[in-house]
Amino acid sequence: MNDHIRILKNKYTVNGYKDSLFTRNEAENAIRFHRSLPCYKETPLKSLSSAAEKYGVGAILVKDESTRFGLNAFKGLGGSYAIFRILCDYFGMDHETSVYEDFLDSDIRKQCEKIVFVTATDGNHGKGIAWAASLFGCKSYVLMPKGSAESRKHAIENAGASSVLITELNYDKTVALAKKLAKENGWILVQDTSWEGYEDTPRHIIEGYLTMVQEIIGQMGEKKPTHVFLQAGVGAMAGGITGYLMDIFKDDPPIITVAEPETVACVYLSVETADGRPHSVEGDPETIMAGLNCGTPCSITWPVLRYAVSFYCACDDCIAERGMRAYAFQEHGDPAVVSGESGAVTYGLLLELLKDRELRNIWNIDENSTILLINTEGATDPVNYEKILCRGDDQ
Ligand SMILES: Cc1ncc(COP(=O)(O)O)c(C=O)c1O
Repeated sequence: MNDHIRILKNKYTVNGYKDSLFTRNEAENAIRFHRSLPCYKETPLKSLSSAAEKYGVGAILVKDESTRFGLNAFKGLGGSYAIFRILCDYFGMDHETSVYEDFLDSDIRKQCEKIVFVTATDGNHGKGIAWAASLFGCKSYVLMPKGSAESRKHAIENAGASSVLITELNYDKTVALAKKLAKENGWILVQDTSWEGYEDTPRHIIEGYLTMVQEIIGQMGEKKPTHVFLQAGVGAMAGGITGYLMDIFKDDPPIITVAEPETVACVYLSVETADGRPHSVEGDPETIMAGLNCGTPCSITWPVLRYAVSFYCACDDCIAERGMRAYAFQEHGDPAVVSGESGAVTYGLLLELLKDRELRNIWNIDENSTILLINTEGATDPVNYEKILCRGDDQ
């Protein structure tokens, strides 16, 4: 149907999926903390009304995370909330009533100076951790997989990391190294994916991401999304948001689509394998979508992704590139969106679907559809961003 996208439809009926992990209650706790941060500001929900008119749909709405906390990506939401939860436990504070200001107390601050957080990252999560750790006066040690762009490393250093190292390992092995260093040095691991025995912190990271959806629901007012497109690396963000949407829209949930890079589509692979378990993409996969270059699905969100998502799409890099250009050079009058490779793949995918009658029918997209996308990052690799914008083979 499309040479650049592999499509898998969920054979389960998603209506009625029940998940008690990512509920409104958890989301309320996270946003209450975020609102207590001095730099907190809602990110905009941009309406691409000319594009919606051109393609004959009701609305195309983009939550633009490129301005979140000045970090160029949504990830700081998860890192800051997880660090807050760890520090609440450490100091015996109640996470349901404590706020950021409580950590400005000079005794607490002194103790925070001795705490070191460690993490592995493709870029955005590490930046979030570096920023959040320094917000609380803690230290951070950040590891990156081989081939990581120097610009991403510098961005993490500038966000406040105590140390950043590009390893000779792929992403999954870099995570294993971070885990080992935490154990050996008494550091605290803050990883944005989970495995058996390591689930509390990743769950809090995901709850932190829910602030985006809380804001979106408020910004949409009476409107409700009929279709939601989410990009996945390990699938923590996509799974958390899906779980939350299932909770709040219960019997009439939107049609959710997950997009991954073709070379490292671990959620797609796991669903396709159809034995009910998550599976890893092995080796050293390459993709321009650095934030999505993760080979193993997150264990906590895997069941949500398995049963509550309607479509899984493995997309070639050119789909992300098309999305970046379409966001940058909008239809007449629509607001431009600066979007990096991982941020734009869902828009690239959506445009392919909208241009194809058969795919529109499969997705049930028509003039009444309200389509929601999340631009999860800005131009996090500025050199590549400029190159991609100049290429332009799109129709
Ligand atoms: C920009 C961007 N979008 C999306 C994601 C996907 O998040 P997850 O790994 O939870 O699937 C990431 C992950 O780092 C990212 O950096």
